[in-house]
Amino acid sequence: RTVYVNGDYLPEDQARVSIFDRAFLMADGVYEVTSVLGGKLIDFDGHLKRLDRSLGELEIRNPLSADDWLAIHRELVTVNEITDGMIYLQVTRGAPGDRDFAWPDPETCPPTVVLFTQSKPGLAESPAAKVGMKVISIEDLRWGRRDIKTVQLLYPSMGKMMAKKAGCDDAWLVEDGFVTEGTSNNTYIVKGNSIITRELSHDILHGITRAAVLRFAREAQMEVIERPFTIAEAQDADEAFITSASAFVMPVVEIDGAVLGDGKPGKVAARMREIYLDEMR
Ligand code: PDD
Repeated sequence: RTVYVNGDYLPEDQARVSIFDRAFLMADGVYEVTSVLGGKLIDFDGHLKRLDRSLGELEIRNPLSADDWLAIHRELVTVNEITDGMIYLQVTRGAPGDRDFAWPDPETCPPTVVLFTQSKPGLAESPAAKVGMKVISIEDLRWGRRDIKTVQLLYPSMGKMMAKKAGCDDAWLVEDGFVTEGTSNNTYIVKGNSIITRELSHDILHGITRAAVLRFAREAQMEVIERPFTIAEAQDADEAFITSASAFVMPVVEIDGAVLGDGKPGKVAARMREIYLDEMR
């Protein structure tokens, strides 16, 4: 596999970054994940916009233009022959000589840029979408700026492991009694003709898939209500689902052991998945 590191396209085993890189020492960096379907980048502009926002919040300079980002993504899709899969990009504050809590002078410390691809043949035809996900709920113990897409992913990773140990697929994070989001996705419940999802704030990542799905839902005359909900309300809902760039729209059929409806993926989730995939690819 060919990867991109700071201007160079290299075989993955020749790619190098400094041990002083602040992402390695302090998780001082941000990332984006863009899906590829049939060789096409899905919602690429949305991901670039959010990258800009994450970098801006952390006062890291965006080292590349939108055209450059696009060219690198296209090149990696081509050289790695990605039909279905994803591209991961990471920008970090770079590698100053010494470890220091204070940020280095950006003039002397350029950001580190890394991109790689993962091939996932048949990504959109995921059998999981026909079965649905089982989730557990856990306390949300992440930091307070979840709107910035940082590489600080230890707690979400622990949450995923807790879910796996419980025989489930993912964990929904709960703060002050209300669901914030999943370990790596935004969360929704459906009641009648209404889709309910938590409103945007510093508490959740502003999902690129979320924005598209809510737009398509409104166009399909569904009511969209942006407000927090509890696990009890979700267990009592008609349906539930999640969205992310890599899972698109994925139904949830069980929450903390409580089966939703008849235990099969809901109609609204299936429809939103179909609309999303039709519109985006
Ligand atoms: N995760 N919330 C969290 C905490 C996330 O990590 C993600 C994405 C989302 C969904 O955002 P989007 O629709 O823009 O992908 C919500 C990516 C896919 C990941 O970490 O792999």
